[in-house]
Amino acid sequence: MTTIKTNYNSIRWTGSEIEIIDQTKLPEEELYISLMTIDETWDAISKLKVRGAPAIGIAGAYGFYLGIKDSPETEHAAFLHHAEKVAHYLNSSRPTAVNLNWALQLLLAEIRKQPDKSPAELKNIVLNRAIEIHNEDRELCKAIGEHGVSLVPENARILTHCNTGGLATAAYGTAFSVILHSHFAKKVKMVWVDETRPLNQGSRLTAWELKKAGVPFTLNIDSAAASLMQNGEVDLIITGADRITRNGDTANKIGTYSLAVLAHAHNIPFYIAAPYSTIDLEMETGAEIEIEQRLPMEVTYFGNRQTAPDDIQVYNPAFDITPNHLIAAIITEKGIVKPDYRKNIPRLFS
Ligand code: MRU
Repeated sequence: MTTIKTNYNSIRWTGSEIEIIDQTKLPEEELYISLMTIDETWDAISKLKVRGAPAIGIAGAYGFYLGIKDSPETEHAAFLHHAEKVAHYLNSSRPTAVNLNWALQLLLAEIRKQPDKSPAELKNIVLNRAIEIHNEDRELCKAIGEHGVSLVPENARILTHCNTGGLATAAYGTAFSVILHSHFAKKVKMVWVDETRPLNQGSRLTAWELKKAGVPFTLNIDSAAASLMQNGEVDLIITGADRITRNGDTANKIGTYSLAVLAHAHNIPFYIAAPYSTIDLEMETGAEIEIEQRLPMEVTYFGNRQTAPDDIQVYNPAFDITPNHLIAAIITEKGIVKPDYRKNIPRLFS
């Protein structure tokens, strides 16, 4: 079932199903689709109909509920076993953003720690916790934006990559929230929007969101970022994150690492913005992060147009790792974390 709406909500729980804006259709079409089963949720996450680390966590949480709600199990142990299988399956939809596993583990913990409750009661507890995860993300993103404004100078020209806006979160976004709140504070002169090949999250989604919000921006191809910096047109760079390890190494959309290296070469501050749900204290360094490899077709076709010969080898990682020494600060809902990350991240988030 689909409906067209004018105001967007990346994800909405209708009471019985997940309604998402199909991000693969933007900007041509603002199409809302319903996910009624765990399989539909898995498919929507893996095809990037719903995408962005926090949004994947929220969709995964509701998908988990869809996966357990019809379980016929009456014994706690059997119900937990079913829930673990559901979590394992959903977590296989995309490997890099930790928010998905973070949300699934939270929900599993609710079941594990309450063996005295019946499966019927636990299903309700899980749904309420999923709704809390969703609501909390709004607050986290707002706080990230408010904290981030202090790092943005007057008349700032900010470069960003991929999409980190309301589409990628419950609302406001992460790096996007910093941009939005800085715009409200009248500090933003220009946002440079990296197109973000191959799936164009920058041109399709960030440009769409910035336009709606009335923030001044210019779209550039990814490879123009270097010359923008060389010409003194960029004051700071802010991106989001899919997973931040204990030492501050950060996985984010492919191309983020090149931006961080460029920023270093041009003496421009490079910031990451992310909520606590993106911080993985179980991993020491970025070397442990699994990087999702995606289909060759995303590179050999531009939309429906074939742009490379058939039967060739393609390298298409969805993310890369930016080492901690290139990151000037990490903007979180709790405030701004500066190096030494190995000390300061666990201090704030343990
Ligand atoms: O492959 P995507 O579009 O899900 O990648 C998204 C990103 O890399 C974002 O920068 C990240 O998830 C942060 S979103 C607030």
